Amino acid sequence: MDLSGKVALITGSARRVGRVLALRLADLGCHCVLHCHTSRAEAESLRTAIAGKGQEALVLQADLSDEEQARLLADQALAWKGNLHILVNSAANFQRVSLPSIEREQWDFALGANLLGPFWLAQRLGPAMVQNGAGKIINIADISWQAPWVSRIPYCVSKAGLVSLTAGLAKAFAPQVQVNAIGPGPVLFPEEYTEAQRQAVIERNLLKRAGTPEEIADALEFFCRCDFATGVFLPVDGGQSILGI
Ligand SMILES: NC(=O)c1ccc[n+]([C@@H]2O[C@H](COP(=O)([O-])OP(=O)(O)OC[C@H]3O[C@@H](n4cnc5c(N)ncnc54)[C@H](OP(=O)(O)O)[C@@H]3O)[C@@H](O)[C@H]2O)c1
Repeated sequence: MDLSGKVALITGSARRVGRVLALRLADLGCHCVLHCHTSRAEAESLRTAIAGKGQEALVLQADLSDEEQARLLADQALAWKGNLHILVNSAANFQRVSLPSIEREQWDFALGANLLGPFWLAQRLGPAMVQNGAGKIINIADISWQAPWVSRIPYCVSKAGLVSLTAGLAKAFAPQVQVNAIGPGPVLFPEEYTEAQRQAVIERNLLKRAGTPEEIADALEFFCRCDFATGVFLPVDGGQSILGI
């Protein structure tokens, strides 16, 4: 796909990895719908940064664990330019919760924001892309879906669902739309991680370093440009998943 002048919705793009993904798409010539939940000020500052690159951007706020808000986000994103070519599902709820403490609420947060939110967006935007003759949906998953962490079971299960959803949507929206998933390894640690925790994670990695959000953006760029890959789960994880940890 030629990305110049295309319209992309990037969820969770006010901060961290999502911000870098949005900046990459803007650099490639896309106009960006910047979704945020609580980080409105950061999203507005990103809008200004993208305007400085000569692309247009719109900030939209939604709690993706709320079905109505997710559906409204899809409608508003589509209405902005009358068309939407790329959907990047990067927003996620990365909650740590011990097994005995998991209640309905933890499942609702994780499945709502990380799995159902992407589904409601794709359910609305995928058919519009099909009608338009082309489109890309890229889901930012996690390598932990295959070997879930006991401390984050709802999160890992939601990401397993997202990988499965990727394959289902790839079938549903073929041949016009390609749907793929990226599985980052550690690229940006949770802000509360100590240096020792960071080092311990890096030690479990074949390449002995953390990745960078730019390396996730490289994979995103590949999936946006490539028209012959669909239903793929691509780990970008320094080889962590082949070590099985
Ligand atoms: N960072 C890593 O090393 C890493 C590793 C593996 C996978 N990933 C995946 O890569 C993606 C980006 O990672 P990240 O570290 O940048 O993520 P993050 O900082 O944990 O979260 C990204 C954004 O998700 C939004 N969000 C959370 N709950 C939401 C909700 N209920 N509704 C709407 N938005 C919500 C937040 O937006 P607001 O700030 O606006 O509230 C947050 O800024 C995620 O899908 C993550 O699972 C990241």
